[in-house]
Amino acid sequence: MELAGKHLVLGLTGGIACYKIAELTRLLVKAGATVQVVMTEAATQFITPVTMQALSGRPVYVSQWDARMPNNMPHIDLSREAHAIVIAPASTDFIAKLAHGMCDDLLSTLCVARDCPLLVVPAMNRQMWQNPATQRNVAQIRADGVEVLGPDSGSQACGEVGDGRMIEPEAAFEAICASFQPKILRGRRVLITAGPTFEPLDPVRGLTNRSSGKMGFALARAAAQAGADVHLVAGPVSLPTPWGVYREDVQTAQQMHDAVMQATPDAEIFIAVAAVADWRVDHAREHKIKKSSDALPAFNFIENPDILASVANLPNPPYCVGFAAESGDLDLHGEEKRRRKNVPLLIGNLGPLTFGRDDNEVVLFEASGRTPLPRADKQSLARTLIAEIAKRAPSGGSLLS
Ligand code: C5P
Repeated sequence: MELAGKHLVLGLTGGIACYKIAELTRLLVKAGATVQVVMTEAATQFITPVTMQALSGRPVYVSQWDARMPNNMPHIDLSREAHAIVIAPASTDFIAKLAHGMCDDLLSTLCVARDCPLLVVPAMNRQMWQNPATQRNVAQIRADGVEVLGPDSGSQACGEVGDGRMIEPEAAFEAICASFQPKILRGRRVLITAGPTFEPLDPVRGLTNRSSGKMGFALARAAAQAGADVHLVAGPVSLPTPWGVYREDVQTAQQMHDAVMQATPDAEIFIAVAAVADWRVDHAREHKIKKSSDALPAFNFIENPDILASVANLPNPPYCVGFAAESGDLDLHGEEKRRRKNVPLLIGNLGPLTFGRDDNEVVLFEASGRTPLPRADKQSLARTLIAEIAKRAPSGGSLLS
């Protein structure tokens, strides 16, 4: 569980976006976090402490004068055991208070008395967000080290459209998870391919493979959580885009090649995880091929470009990482493939056995030798791999610069 052992104080302030916090609480609890809800008086007008208690499984605190704490100091006790305080939704007024270090209720006092990171998820009307005082206050809390998540743009409860609505609970959840990860790729530009490709035979049929895209998407998420700017070029998969990742969808190997070649000049690290079709038919039929009893359809195959090799052989390539799914003798094929593709690092697995599964077991191949990694779920493995890649990828641009 992603947030097992993490203790969060979740602070609600007054705003209609309070209804979204029921879902956020559910996501945090499901991920293993302990969630201590603290509400301002205004927040209790929008969602009841009873609801928040039921979802978090803990009594909710509102008042600084709550006598349930044995020492009568909830503002100290609640924050001392927290790994982070998350204010969601954060109202205009509450952000103003934070900017000035005011503490006239339990939640604001907790924030001032904290010794842990503070994450703020603003939610307000667009005019309130644009107000110069709000912008000043947001800039001030950012300068004070507070992480501000959002807001989003779009339609608002008041009927207006613009910046200020709260980011969705899933996005807030992702950002909270990311806040616990070390920023080992901060600001680095990472390009990733993921998923299968689809090579059409006719308008309804095509060649594809069993890659689920899970490993590539897990790496994109882990890289984004590590602070990278991630560009994900994805074949046809039905996976949600990891938070903060720029995603480009393609179908065929040629489209994936073109998208990658266009994005490569901006990339410092290229991780080719996609299971790219080796061949395509030279002319996909324009109309659906009819079933006929006397002749089976025949196709001419031509080779697809090798995307990884094309990037690795550029005069000034990014740090390139390949993947290899082998059905036997991983050691022999892994190192041979690494050399043939001309990449410094190749991650090998017994692929056909892991397609679609949630866990994986891999071996790193590089010039200095092989390093097996223990079997792990794809998300933890992705974090380990991103850490290994971050250690190896030279910073400050491409291999040759
Ligand atoms: O040769 P093979 O397909 O086993 O190589 C796997 C590695 O090469 C993966 O990293 C895959 O993403 C990449 N690849 C590619 N373009 C191809 C074929 C493979 O980028 N046409």
